[in-house]
Amino acid sequence: MSKPRIHLIATGGTIAGVSASATDTTAYRAGSLTAQALLDTVPPLAELAELSVEQLYNLDSKDMSPQHWLGLARAARAALERDEVDGVVITHGTDTLEESAFFLDLVLPPGKPVVFTCAMRPSSALSADGPMNLYGAVAVACSAEAAGLGVLVVSNDRIHTAREATKAHPQALDAFVSPDTGPLGWARPPTFLHRPVRGAARAIELDAIDALPQVEILTVAAGSSPRLLNACIGTGARGIILALPGNSSLPQSWEAALAAARAAGCSVLVASRTGADPLALTPLKARVRLITTLLDEE
Ligand code: SIN
Repeated sequence: MSKPRIHLIATGGTIAGVSASATDTTAYRAGSLTAQALLDTVPPLAELAELSVEQLYNLDSKDMSPQHWLGLARAARAALERDEVDGVVITHGTDTLEESAFFLDLVLPPGKPVVFTCAMRPSSALSADGPMNLYGAVAVACSAEAAGLGVLVVSNDRIHTAREATKAHPQALDAFVSPDTGPLGWARPPTFLHRPVRGAARAIELDAIDALPQVEILTVAAGSSPRLLNACIGTGARGIILALPGNSSLPQSWEAALAAARAAGCSVLVASRTGADPLALTPLKARVRLITTLLDEE
């Protein structure tokens, strides 16, 4: 029987990180191994799938920008459009994975599986987690059940949706969580425990877009100056997410500045800085969605 054909797009991160010491899990260089070298660390992948490989970037994901998301979305869409590709796996740094994954979730047409994966320990570390994460991600991308669920994230044996996946710890292997909903399932063997809670995919036409609109996040602390809003607009921001205390509660001292910013044409949306609202998006995800909403208005 023929195996599923999975296209791997490598973008860097700790999963491709290398250190001189097997016990160093913090001072290594992310984005060092090539995609092919990464695949070569996981020989059992050949039993699961026929793999093709693309080295799109080799970055520490702190240096990803919306321009990189655009390039990544185009590369993923080009792969998905090929009849001979059954699914796409993307390796990515953990630090901004949830932003890239959610952007792709919003702009790619639903259908064939798209699965992000990553690692918390570099490839050179004792008990590196990247090889098993990659194996799990390819297993999920091969699964017929993963089709149509939107972009998924596999880390530490769990499957998360891109909408829910949140990096909640800077070093632990179980850094990714899905607050409130819990993970979508288990990666090996792929087991889906519930259906994702997600809106309809937008399938935005990417070819005509040169750059994404600038949207910033302002976290409002007790006593923060409302003049930050003007400063933010002064940098050219077309949209701002206000990460507000508690239940997205706006301090009275910010009311006039918010009304003025909106009157000046800046799209200002609010989110809870607790990052744990079951009905709304975290500030990071709200920013990604506002970027795609502003695209529609161009
Ligand atoms: C990165 O995000 O590229 C570095 C950190 C990581 O992948 O864990």
